[in-house]
Amino acid sequence: MPTDSLTLDRPLDMHLHLREKEMLGLVGPLSAAHFAGAVVMPNLVRPVDSLADLLAYREQVAAATSGHVFMPFMTLFFRDYSDEELAAARPHLLGIKLYPAGATTNSEAGVKAIDAAESTIRRMEEQGIPLLVHGETHGFVMDRESEFLAIYRHLAETFPKLRITMEHITTAGAVALLDAFENLFATVTLQHLLITLDDVAGGLLNPHLFCKPIAKRPEDRAALLAAALGAHPKLMFGSDSAPHPRSRKECCGCAAGVFTAPIALPVLAELFEKHHGLENLQAFVSDNARAIYGVDPPAKSITLSRQPMKIPESYGGTVVPMFAGEEIGWSVRSD
Ligand code: NCD
Ligand code: ZN
Repeated sequence: MPTDSLTLDRPLDMHLHLREKEMLGLVGPLSAAHFAGAVVMPNLVRPVDSLADLLAYREQVAAATSGHVFMPFMTLFFRDYSDEELAAARPHLLGIKLYPAGATTNSEAGVKAIDAAESTIRRMEEQGIPLLVHGETHGFVMDRESEFLAIYRHLAETFPKLRITMEHITTAGAVALLDAFENLFATVTLQHLLITLDDVAGGLLNPHLFCKPIAKRPEDRAALLAAALGAHPKLMFGSDSAPHPRSRKECCGCAAGVFTAPIALPVLAELFEKHHGLENLQAFVSDNARAIYGVDPPAKSITLSRQPMKIPESYGGTVVPMFAGEEIGWSVRSD
């Protein structure tokens, strides 16, 4: 008997870009309609790197998502923080996000050398603040994550009590690392479970599938998918939904980022059903994250049903989602 519907308890998006101003106003409600909470990334044009900025940004997110049951889990942009700054911010954040300088959108203020970051990382370990990492070197684009795995090993060994989340993993090597260190966790996006570099650049170039880290090889996708479908307890769903205006995507010098927030849950349902893994979707989109971070999102359930839906060509005329204009087999039931 095929399943016709599935109710998810408190679905969470553990890696989300909500931006600011009009863009926040457009995309905030789309995430808040489907998720009970999300980890909000701090890479605004001026990074969120003080408690005052974090609280002000949380207000903006709350205003944009009002009317929905939705809890934003805030993050700070990594820089050198004093003990006092960390202690003051700790009750208000989920973790601190480290970007290597220039690795992705709005990361110019990121870290130039990991060694120089270690005194703050040690303070985070002492205070029990998780470290979230964009794990890419500045090497050849297909090898950037693989090269970064040595840094993950080093951090995991040097700071055994630090919770480290390898954000948006894209390689089989990163999946394997989850089992090598107790204190390493990971998020994986929708697109990296579905596509390879072929979908981005193997035929006509598809800018709407271009993101950092770039999609990798079929064997990488297979390893990510197996871990997600098997509800690997250290792997969480994090969409990395990263909206850019169409003019910044369909141009020369396309910005990195795939917009998936409003389609993520139905596409995941379709994918998990196809691979006979629907019973593990709850763990992947909520339970694992709740166990890993000890977060307590507000009560909310979302029912997905096997009702086809056509994905819009754009949202607000400006943001083009993954699979724009295509039909998918599942949708979120609006009661
Ligand atoms: C993200 C963005 O646009 O902010 N882009 C992306 O390609 N994933 C940043 C990031 O998470 O790398
Ligand atoms: Zn991201």
